[in-house]
Amino acid sequence: MHFARTAPPARRTLDRRVKQVVRWGTSHALPRTAVALGARRGDLQGRLVAQMSNGTSAELFTLLDEIRGKGPVFLSKLGAVVASHEAVRETLANPDVEAGRFVPPDSVLARIGAWSEIDVLHPVRPPSLLAVEPPQHTRYRKLVTKVFSARAVAQLKDRTQQIADELVAAIPAGEPGDLIASYCALLPVTVICEILGVPPGERHRVLELGEAAAPSLDLGLPWREFRRVESALATFDRWLTGHLDRLRAQPGDDLLSQLVTAQEDGAGLTDQEVKSTAGLVLAAGFETTVNLLGNGIALLAADPAQRALLRERPDLWDNAVNEILRYDPPVLLTGRMTVRRTTIAGAGVPAGRLVSVALAGANRDPDVFPRPHVFDVTRDNARDHLSFGAGRHYCLGASLARMEGAIGLRTLFERFPAVELRPGARRRPTRILRGYGTLPAVARTR
Ligand code: HEM
Repeated sequence: MHFARTAPPARRTLDRRVKQVVRWGTSHALPRTAVALGARRGDLQGRLVAQMSNGTSAELFTLLDEIRGKGPVFLSKLGAVVASHEAVRETLANPDVEAGRFVPPDSVLARIGAWSEIDVLHPVRPPSLLAVEPPQHTRYRKLVTKVFSARAVAQLKDRTQQIADELVAAIPAGEPGDLIASYCALLPVTVICEILGVPPGERHRVLELGEAAAPSLDLGLPWREFRRVESALATFDRWLTGHLDRLRAQPGDDLLSQLVTAQEDGAGLTDQEVKSTAGLVLAAGFETTVNLLGNGIALLAADPAQRALLRERPDLWDNAVNEILRYDPPVLLTGRMTVRRTTIAGAGVPAGRLVSVALAGANRDPDVFPRPHVFDVTRDNARDHLSFGAGRHYCLGASLARMEGAIGLRTLFERFPAVELRPGARRRPTRILRGYGTLPAVARTR
């Protein structure tokens, strides 16, 4: 007797659609409803998530102060929030609190989630570095760190300066334009594409794909946006598979070719692991740094006194970048789940809680940063911000991002000491990632 091994195409399409609806339901519709209900009842975690998409900066930071004022861990009906420097640092280092989980392990929702999974690249689903924990995480991280060493980043400094010079030279003095489109978006994508051996002709594609996939970090997407994001991720996945095949056939001297070769030595990563890591590094490599540059330009353009300080003392640029990261972080918060009962900053937290880890709250903690709501490029301990996270998932690209931020901002402001913002600045619609989508300005040489 002969049994058909695969379902007919119509059945497969139906299966795919059902799974997509279930994925959306468990990871977006349910949390969205819970957050909206919580926010309506005044729950601080619900209000925080709502504020991240609709609120002004002042409202957001006032709310974070209020949450921090409740104690080291705020237990809400929805989960928990940490917003003090100590509690954020401890949460991210705590082995009982794991990344990559949105529902309690072994719950019905976890089983439904596993059933509806698809094998497409996603920044917060395994085997992404951001979604796995030791021992798997330790193995990936060791390999990637080897390839992504501080020495490798230092070697990119001259090239980054050259790219920044070329981009700044193309900005017309005294004419209105959008600095995100002409500068902030282009610098990081050009640098990361060189690191990862992406040919110049394909960079605009990477930029478009990254932009379309950026909301994938957010929980609670509406159905249409969720479908758009999944489709962008699937296109990114196909493009990356082709790119890795090309590098395997003809390795260059870029870091990604090294990662692929490391894989072929036997002790390295599987195909899926290399793809996931490359995808994350590629997307994280510009989706966040564009925000650092845009937020920095907006802050400095509005503050002639701080600009004057930087003109007198260019050695302050590295510190200024840390202060920008502290004051207006490109990643507002990250998420974790307690997999067993634990203690954070002396407070007990039950198992199975979804924890909102407010990096932006830690950065305004008055116990660590005196006068936290003042932007001050001379601040002594600006470097103690937690905008790159902490613990085992600490940002792999932190030194690259700092280098790009300092070179990018200094080059722009040295060429154009007066950047005049024009009306129409708009934040990007993402919630977790925070930055400008448009920054209209006139750049003047005097
Ligand atoms: C201003 C720019 C950047 C900011 C604010 C930033 C922020 C962060 C944060 C907060 C995390 C930790 C997330 C968590 O714990 O859940 C992280 C992780 C990560 N970042 Fe960045 N990042 C930036 C630039 C970069 C760049 C340029 C790269 C590319 C090399 C990069 C690659 C990564 C990777 C691979 C991880 C995952 C590390 C792990 O899970 O072990 N980031 N980043």
